[in-house]
Amino acid sequence: MDSNRILKIGLFGFGCVGQGLYDILERETQLPFQIEKICVKDPTKVRPLSPEYFTYDAEEVLQDDRLDLLVEAISDAQEAYQIVTAALRKGKRVVTANKKLVAFHLPELLALQQEFGGVLLYEAAVAGGIPIIRAVEEYFANEPLVRVHGILNGSSNYILSQIFQQQKPYHEALKEAQDKGFAELDPWLDVAGADSRHKLCILTAHAFGRTLAPEEVAFFGIDFLGQRDLDFAKHNNSSIKLIASVHVTPEGELVPLVLPSLVKATDDLNVVEQEFNGVVVQGAYSGPQLFKGRGAGGHPTGAAVLSDVISISKDYQYGYRKLNQTLRIPALALDHTLEVYLRTSDPALFDTLELEHQQIIECAPDAEAVVGTVTLGNLVQHQDKIREAGAFILALSSDFTKTKVQKQEKAEAVLS
Ligand code: HSE
Repeated sequence: MDSNRILKIGLFGFGCVGQGLYDILERETQLPFQIEKICVKDPTKVRPLSPEYFTYDAEEVLQDDRLDLLVEAISDAQEAYQIVTAALRKGKRVVTANKKLVAFHLPELLALQQEFGGVLLYEAAVAGGIPIIRAVEEYFANEPLVRVHGILNGSSNYILSQIFQQQKPYHEALKEAQDKGFAELDPWLDVAGADSRHKLCILTAHAFGRTLAPEEVAFFGIDFLGQRDLDFAKHNNSSIKLIASVHVTPEGELVPLVLPSLVKATDDLNVVEQEFNGVVVQGAYSGPQLFKGRGAGGHPTGAAVLSDVISISKDYQYGYRKLNQTLRIPALALDHTLEVYLRTSDPALFDTLELEHQQIIECAPDAEAVVGTVTLGNLVQHQDKIREAGAFILALSSDFTKTKVQKQEKAEAVLS
């Protein structure tokens, strides 16, 4: 692209991320970018910019050949899919922040780039302002990775911090996360772990060369967290964090999973509080490295979009080296077991999940809680049943590589 002129951006969406990008470009006047046209949905909404910026017709932006690049920052993944695939079919350069879109359609988005010569970057889709895709994609392109795990959802981390540090009720903390612009339009995605799952799918493609269909990944969240679970965590001198993790087993299989977990003071991720995200990338030779930064909010996410805008204008594109180098697509280690705490009002779940080594933690008329071991396969297969039952499930260690925690670390039972 011609770097001696101001490059024109067509923007889709003017919510938290779109406005964040606009605001940064307004302040950083030395940057050679200008938002030329913004496509939004609701003509009745009062906008902070003059009306000539806006259009309600996506085609007007998609067809405008004066635009140098497009930024997609809308929350609806289906609409984002229509826009991004149409733009890639025209061979355009596109930056998106939409993690659900990328997680569900990565193989198709790759094929469209190959066929029509367009480019898609999506750093803002994972861990907000942390440049984690670029780090995994570039710095770790040739080193085999052993594990990537972290806190990938700012809203649920904010809620957990407010609960554990300020003793705030869950719904008050969730409302705050929404008011601060951290949460998705549908906050279920945040608190149920689905948003973390989408981000984990994207990271896995870059880190382990395996495109995961989101349906392959079991996800559990903090939406059913209750006082008994908080008591269990406190009794074990731990807090709870929502962990997204993927690691490779000695047999070369992958274990991807999103699960709340007990986190001890000594854990790398214990320092990640409020809306921050943290990702530990463990290389086979470099060992574990913690990346920490703001995972949500207009400016951090807008800054990640801006970084992609600059890179795409300089002809950067992802090399997908791990995807392209992988000779044998790694299978999922469905027989991998991990130790969990499960509280439910439907004890039949214990049998459904084939929980082994069960230890009763609580046996009240309205709920039973046990600790036991469960396979990844059973979690994947029965995840809907766990959600439908309103059960709360928790890993006893944020290290999902451990099949069973060491005896001295074993969680202490709270027998009632
Ligand atoms: N709702 C998301 C979060 C925004 O809370 O992390 C950033 O992807």
